[in-house]
Amino acid sequence: MSEAGKLRLGVNIDHVATLRNARGGAYPDPVRAAKLAEDAGADGITAHLREDRRHIVDADIDALMAALRVPLNFEMAATEEMQAIALRHKPHAVCLVPEKREERTTEGGLDVARDQARLADYVAPLREAGCRVSLFIAADAAQIEAAKAVGAEVIELHTGGYCDAHAEGQFDARDAELESLREMAGFAHGLGLEVHAGHGLTYDTVTPIAAFPEVMELNIGHFLIGESVFRGLGPAISEMRRLMDVARGL
Ligand code: PXP
Repeated sequence: MSEAGKLRLGVNIDHVATLRNARGGAYPDPVRAAKLAEDAGADGITAHLREDRRHIVDADIDALMAALRVPLNFEMAATEEMQAIALRHKPHAVCLVPEKREERTTEGGLDVARDQARLADYVAPLREAGCRVSLFIAADAAQIEAAKAVGAEVIELHTGGYCDAHAEGQFDARDAELESLREMAGFAHGLGLEVHAGHGLTYDTVTPIAAFPEVMELNIGHFLIGESVFRGLGPAISEMRRLMDVARGL
């Protein structure tokens, strides 16, 4: 497989900030985690600045932008406040995610189809600023077509339903989720969208998703930060990287 077939790993460091904020103060530092992730083979760092700043805070975004060698994928709600922050920092990528119940579909992705006109206006200045705009959506043809229509270059397919079904031992439901992820990855790719995937992925669930040739990037956080309690962050990430490479036939 060519280098173009290599799957990028984005490591989401939000949960390091969750742990820090549980006590207040500065420890553990999500920027230190991001630098370790870079050294362990992460191709990008993902951080979600939530409206309530429950984990990542504004100063973390400043520090990440200054410290990272790899691109920052800035996850955010499609609000005016977040757009202003993104336009100030101009991160490599902006991933729009739902934060409120009414912004999401029943499967949990952003309801782009319902909010198409507003999102088209919202996405345009981010693209003009040089950010690659990604939309976190369910594996649903109408949402993918809407993502294309609003000017996104990238979609991130929500793998939460697939991972939950696996964890609950509902293997028929899991396989059905996987099939629709496979089909919709192909559909989105056919429309010219770059396809990413994430949410809930673990060592047990990553392989089939990583094997989809249309998927260019996985964003993984909670499991890796949890696993780092047991084996350390670098080794936890290296093992995920290894599984992704094996799935890709590298
Ligand atoms: N992708 C997106 C868009 C997310 O919002 C998140 C975090 O919820 C992730 C990926 C990573 O999910 P997890 O932390 O479950 O690996």
